[in-house]
Amino acid sequence: MVVLISGTGSNMSALVEAARDPAYGAEVVAVGSDRRGTRGIERAEAAGVSAFVVPFRDYADRFEWNRAMAEAISAHEPDLVVSAGFMRILGPAVLQRHTAVNIHPALLPSFPGAHAVRDALAHGVRITGTTIHFLDEGVDSGPIIDQVAVPVEDGDDESSLHERIKTVERRMLVDTVGRLAREGWTVDGRHVRFGRTEHSVTDASDTKENR
Ligand code: GRF
Repeated sequence: MVVLISGTGSNMSALVEAARDPAYGAEVVAVGSDRRGTRGIERAEAAGVSAFVVPFRDYADRFEWNRAMAEAISAHEPDLVVSAGFMRILGPAVLQRHTAVNIHPALLPSFPGAHAVRDALAHGVRITGTTIHFLDEGVDSGPIIDQVAVPVEDGDDESSLHERIKTVERRMLVDTVGRLAREGWTVDGRHVRFGRTEHSVTDASDTKENR
């Protein structure tokens, strides 16, 4: 897999650690970012993982940047792209070539977008959480693979709540990506199942199936 990050990269580091065990079933072939000089890229390099940066600001527009990102990703020939704290929207240039999953720090479809933890707190929900889903061309809108709930505690602020979500998120990400790699998956409309059940695919336009 290629893991995409924009910041600290704690989720990416959890994947790199898990993948050191050959029984995990997946390998991190590269880590990519849209930003130079992030802690995440330093962490990847320190762990001996190949890293690349395609800075958004170096491109005329979103389209050109997506094309460059698609090329940088494809150079590593991943079977799966994992967006783990990657704060840009991947367009068709990437998504038509690669199957990608994303983690989001809220229980989708509630609170999509870049400020999910802040928005959940502002709304006063008592339970929020994290979601891992396949990427489509919308914002946090693709088929959901797994979700874990995290209670909001009295006195939580954005940072304390996000840290608790991230603890749960790292476990969910490692478990889910490992299962995808080991068991395969089928997407049937909005429904994702682990395992290779070819006959259950009903909507080819909406469907990505893998080994
Ligand atoms: C995660 O909570 C992820 O869901 C969100 O950004 C955070 C990234 O954290 N999109 P890290 O870079 O993995 O530490």
